[in-house]
Amino acid sequence: MAENPEEPEVEEEYISRYKSVEDLPGVGPATAEKLKKLGYTTVEALATASIKELTQVLGEKTANAIVTEARKQLISVPFMRADEYLKFRSTVERITTGCRGLDMLLGGGVETQAITEFYGEFGTGKSQICHQLCVNVQLPRERGGLEGGALYIDTEHTFRPERIAQIAKNLNLDPKKALSRVIYAEALTSDHQMYLLDHAASQMSEHNIRLIIVDSLIAHFRSEFIGREMLAERQQKLERHLHKLMKLARAYNAAAVVTNQVMAKPDAFFTDAVGPTGGHILAHISHTRIFLRKSPTPHVRIAKLVVSPSLPEGSECPFKITEKGIEDVEVRERK
Ligand code: GTP
Ligand code: MG
Repeated sequence: MAENPEEPEVEEEYISRYKSVEDLPGVGPATAEKLKKLGYTTVEALATASIKELTQVLGEKTANAIVTEARKQLISVPFMRADEYLKFRSTVERITTGCRGLDMLLGGGVETQAITEFYGEFGTGKSQICHQLCVNVQLPRERGGLEGGALYIDTEHTFRPERIAQIAKNLNLDPKKALSRVIYAEALTSDHQMYLLDHAASQMSEHNIRLIIVDSLIAHFRSEFIGREMLAERQQKLERHLHKLMKLARAYNAAAVVTNQVMAKPDAFFTDAVGPTGGHILAHISHTRIFLRKSPTPHVRIAKLVVSPSLPEGSECPFKITEKGIEDVEVRERK
């Protein structure tokens, strides 16, 4: 740790969530090796594991004891001093969006250990931002990346590898290599979507995943749970799904990015008024929300920071979608 006089001295134990599996009581080197083979490298990842999965390599009793211990460890540090919390927060990193304005809106880029939601009507750039982030996360830190891979859960069949290659090329990355660092899964139903995330841990560590995309988060839920009487069940499932997403983001210090399509009200086309199809669905889960809308200028979109735990809400910035990907709008181009 750097001997910076301004940096409060905090013992490593406060970052216990990132403890390696070997540090867990009862886990010897052989067991640790087996757990790692399954993709479990940290205590928090183990806490979210299902016992059934661990029984692939361990006896049921041992698996049960390990998961119980991991969970106990995680909840055993519920209180921390604010300076300790600051230290914990210092492990948060950011991924550039490729657009300076959008990065500023987000306080430097999309944050790890948190969920960022891009929402807006069709064609506002939600999936394009996701594609761009999948490449940007691979960049070296001095270029705004985390030198990591991306996991892309696609629910609408809109992922395009060709676009990843195109964006990578523009950033002087080898397109083939860039594609190999994006792990893709298509979710066929809401249950399948949940299953994919529940089994993502091994992929996370195997491919050093630092960005998880769910595009779109609620399309399946919306089409499968219709009507008021199903709303409670849908909410419950979504909440469980998001909780899992948050846990993965914390365990692997990854950014979680989700999209959500909302309808613009016909009488307020260029405002951020949205219809009832999901605009508030995630409102009670702490995360950053960015509303996207079209601008009268071709290819230009406007992003607005609607909810943020730590940044001024209501700020806006334009960006454009070009062959190169997501880009800044120069002042002379703005209308
Ligand atoms: P829905 O998923 O339908 O809700 O829309 P979205 O918000 O995900 O929109 P998406 O990001 O897919 O597309 C936004 C816009 O990006 C489109 O209207 C196109 O104009 C543009 N776009 C998409 N793909 C490309 C591409 O490969 N090259 C360029 N230059 N523009 C693209
Ligand atoms: Mg889309």
